[in-house]
Amino acid sequence: MKKCNRLVEVGRRQFLRGGVMGAAGAAAATVFPAHQAQARSLARVEYPADRLANVADLVVNEPMDITYPDEDSPGVLLKLGTAVQGGVGPDGDIVAYSVLCPHKGWLLTYNPGDMTLNCPGHFSRFDCEAGGQQTWGHATQNLPQFELRVDDGGDIYAEGVDELIYGRLSNVI
Ligand code: FES
Repeated sequence: MKKCNRLVEVGRRQFLRGGVMGAAGAAAATVFPAHQAQARSLARVEYPADRLANVADLVVNEPMDITYPDEDSPGVLLKLGTAVQGGVGPDGDIVAYSVLCPHKGWLLTYNPGDMTLNCPGHFSRFDCEAGGQQTWGHATQNLPQFELRVDDGGDIYAEGVDELIYGRLSNVI
């Protein structure tokens, strides 16, 4: 019984020590919010608006090479001829995508026959009429689509990206 009481006492001391450590942890946690707020702000992606072309420069189903949000991120600007998901411009048919395959970064090529972007690496295919949805292959992510805006003069601006561009931990420049 004496031994049992000693164990209870040890347990009580450990419990109290845990309480002290918990209180210290809580005090430390009160220091973190500012730090966490900074981490949150670092994670927020702010995209520069970048003029890509003018509506008048585009021909239906002929891809135009672009880069966005920087020179290391190749993409394609397309006028598809019919209104599509995420399409802008007077006909709602202008879209833009990254051409870096989300699987291992091979450069995609455009197939005007079915309006898909295709990977020569492991044959992933992405539907340009469906927001870059992957329809086949090894990639595990849809194609990053660039968010576009057209101003009153017909200038087309990219202002964001809806998926992570291949090879980046974030889309921050
Ligand atoms: Fe495109 Fe593998 S790199 S499917």
